[in-house]
Amino acid sequence: MRVVCPGSFDPITLGHVDIIERAAACFSEVIVAVAQNSAKNHMFEPAERVELVEVAVGHLPNVSVHALSGLLVDFCVAHDASALVKGVRTAGDYEYEAQMAQWNRTLKGIETLLVPTAPQWSYLSSTKVREVATLGGDVRAYVPAAVADRIRTWLAERPVGRGKEPGDG
Ligand code: PNS
Repeated sequence: MRVVCPGSFDPITLGHVDIIERAAACFSEVIVAVAQNSAKNHMFEPAERVELVEVAVGHLPNVSVHALSGLLVDFCVAHDASALVKGVRTAGDYEYEAQMAQWNRTLKGIETLLVPTAPQWSYLSSTKVREVATLGGDVRAYVPAAVADRIRTWLAERPVGRGKEPGDG
């Protein structure tokens, strides 16, 4: 069975890697779908996020990585995948994911399988990794080594304002 692990992955964290590894252990094929992210405070462009996800899951032979634009259910149909696998950390995540799951099932019959996040990653999010890194914190314990290296380069390229866009408050 082929499944899709979708996300923005800005950047991919060790929590994401854990979910993808566990999906890869359960299913014959996993496609990681890296969504476009229109958020203003993004860190990496979509193509760079795809590259970093590829490095992070390079040890998993049955996992491939693709960019996602448009509806996730259309991506699933185009890639002949019948289910999504997503991690849930909290009750809040569950409520959000349960709603998304109904949309994806009613739109195109795509099922959603929710996997409880491993306890050690239950507080982890890409948003917090971006915030901590941008404010000078060490994020090496939360992201793959290649991602931590790339974040260091990203910060070094932005000595003024540490990642803020001109005009940001
Ligand atoms: O890592 P994220 O930001 O929580 O991932 C969200 C993602 C990519 C799964 C979600 O935004 C998504 O499914 N985007 C694709 C567009 C789509 O299909 N929207 C309708 C979902 S009901």
